[in-house]
Amino acid sequence: MDKLNVNGESVNELLQAQAHVWNHIFSFINSMSLQCAIDLDIPDIIHKHGKPMPITELIAALPKLHPTKACNIYRLMRILLHSSFFAQQKLGDGAADEGGYVLTDASRLLLKDNPLSAEPLLKSMLDPILVQPWHFLGTWFQNDDRTPFVTAHGKMLWDYCGHDPRVNNSFNEGMASDARLVNSILIDKYKEGFEGLNSVVDVGGGTGTLAKAVADAFPHMECTVFDLPHVVAGLKDSGNLKYVGGDMFDGFPAADAVLLKWIMHDWSDEECVKILKHCKEAISRGEKEGGKVIIIDMVMMKNGKGKEELMETQLFIDMVMMVLMTGKERDEEEWAKLFSAAGFSGYKIIPILGLRSVIEVYP
Ligand SMILES: C[S@@+](CC[C@H](N)C(=O)[O-])C[C@H]1O[C@@H](n2cnc3c(N)ncnc32)[C@H](O)[C@@H]1O
Repeated sequence: MDKLNVNGESVNELLQAQAHVWNHIFSFINSMSLQCAIDLDIPDIIHKHGKPMPITELIAALPKLHPTKACNIYRLMRILLHSSFFAQQKLGDGAADEGGYVLTDASRLLLKDNPLSAEPLLKSMLDPILVQPWHFLGTWFQNDDRTPFVTAHGKMLWDYCGHDPRVNNSFNEGMASDARLVNSILIDKYKEGFEGLNSVVDVGGGTGTLAKAVADAFPHMECTVFDLPHVVAGLKDSGNLKYVGGDMFDGFPAADAVLLKWIMHDWSDEECVKILKHCKEAISRGEKEGGKVIIIDMVMMKNGKGKEELMETQLFIDMVMMVLMTGKERDEEEWAKLFSAAGFSGYKIIPILGLRSVIEVYP
């Protein structure tokens, strides 16, 4: 077989290359199949069933399913079994036991009533408005637009959100869902990081999910959520939590610490240095000697050997930053350069958030 040659390549190599190309042509089908399962409420329906759910019962329980499509559900479930969003278990009802679908850890994280659900993030990232710019990536490399999002929609993502309440809400909900998951770990594993601070400002803090958790856990601390006016419009101050609208490139309120969760990766190096300089200035006006910036973001792995899936996720998110924003993911060296360019004296990386880390930066 190997001796056969087509254009100088062995047939085996040729066919392997074909399979690799096909896999990449069609890998968007993983995202779209998952989105479809969410649209049909499949994880929630299997969850409510409470035991392995045979395909016939699943079909009967899907309220939105058109009867002419019932015969295709097993095909959707088959690819989602393959991608480990569902598993199959025996029902234990004898020889003819056809087995039933059960959830996996990944689909449990997509249940609508799971307080840590990633479903809003999935919906916002797969919204057609956010997916369309991917079709313009090649064009963007050949023009001088700031982002492929601009090439697709004529304005930056943040301006788009300011003009389209549906996309704004979907994006903010997606971010809030991620913040809920981060909070659940951060408030426990990073308690000492907040101790001794009298005030924090969460810059680009969205609708305030993270700042609210910090405000509840540390009732003596003054917490401020700072974000664009259209994001914080209508949100009410309560207790030790308040909202301020503005543009972070013009500065923000003083505090002992500045929180930046999923902010720096949205911006170019030049823009990050400007934000960090404003952080330094805001901290210097805080009550506490020293103070710090608390960044929650990824530190890119340099060598993903043995961690190929995590590495791929980091590469995906880096590309998202290129397509939707002007930012990028950074390795430790790149982070260190930013901190010293903005005049900070040191930093510490605390890798407690899986793909992401807490990075403390000191004036
Ligand atoms: C990726 S989201 C992160 C939200 C939140 N920190 C979180 O992780 O859940 C970026 C946030 O930055 C805000 N933002 C963008 N440009 C801004 C600006 N010039 N000034 C203030 N906030 C801005 C956006 O509105 C958005 O809420």
